Amino acid sequence: MYLRNRWYVAAWDKEVGNKPLARTIMNEPIVFFRDEFGKPVALEDSCAHRYMALSLGKVLNGVIQCPYHGLEYDKTGKCISIPGQTKVPPGAFIRSYPVLEKWRWIWIWMGNPNEADETLIPDFHWNDDPEWVAVGDYFYVRGNYRLLIDNLMDLTHVAYVHSNTLGTENVADFPVKVKRDACKVHVERWVLNEPAPPMFETIGKFNGAVDRWQLIHYLPPSHFVIDVGCATANTGALSGDRRKGITMFSNHTLTPENESATHYFWHHARNFRRNENQLTETLAKATKTAFGEDVQIIEMQQNRIDQARQKKPIIDINADAGVLQGRKLLDELIAAEN
Ligand code: FES
Repeated sequence: MYLRNRWYVAAWDKEVGNKPLARTIMNEPIVFFRDEFGKPVALEDSCAHRYMALSLGKVLNGVIQCPYHGLEYDKTGKCISIPGQTKVPPGAFIRSYPVLEKWRWIWIWMGNPNEADETLIPDFHWNDDPEWVAVGDYFYVRGNYRLLIDNLMDLTHVAYVHSNTLGTENVADFPVKVKRDACKVHVERWVLNEPAPPMFETIGKFNGAVDRWQLIHYLPPSHFVIDVGCATANTGALSGDRRKGITMFSNHTLTPENESATHYFWHHARNFRRNENQLTETLAKATKTAFGEDVQIIEMQQNRIDQARQKKPIIDINADAGVLQGRKLLDELIAAEN
């Protein structure tokens, strides 16, 4: 069960061009390409004639041609040409999906097309804003998207999973505050007067202790804006003055391929030392390494879930406060939609 009447990221903008891109979302095979004006198109990846995957075909001036017998479909999914005949029979169409390009991502609406409203695309402007330098990438994860939601809702794992990049030892000693409303969850943690994690120490050039923040904004179904940073300890960051520190936005969005695999898109943005290409490269490498560590954890969890001979009850700990609120909200929204 998925929350369908929401926007999901289907691809990076650069992935969609004049060659078909195949991507399965919520068990539905979809082909992406660009129309004659360069706008993204998303169609069911299965020909109306004999089910052939259109993604193995060609895009010809904004129209996709089936590689089997040459039927052509326009951006609405209507078959507009059949070799050897002038008449296109009724029923010669495939499903088209609402699709939009925003914040350097291609967004798809998997629910009722009449409800697809562009203003509902969440704000990820950091990925496409001259005031920020963003690095980002994509992971194909062999794990359920909800495992990744859990991972991003509880950052105590940084101490164990990311000890060389994002973690310091005693993050779990600093409790989180969780706030929830009808459509989002906010999880806030301040780690005060502690050493900076390795990545922050390197790029922030801190001498001594820092005050560090992790402010997680979760917007269902699977969008995360995470405001993270450090400032020299006791210089006012906690009350809003970040002048003695650095801020980065670590933003993530998860799109289920099916119950056991996820398309994971992320970017990491900074607004300082913006012209330093070397720093950009260092951050791109470090963040990709760190998030790749999460992917390994998720895939191993999924492996153990799949291998379990029977489902065992799981336990919750204090650090799960945000996780539990996030799960509850998503379940409620799915139930309401259905
Ligand atoms: Fe596509 Fe025949 S299966 S044209």
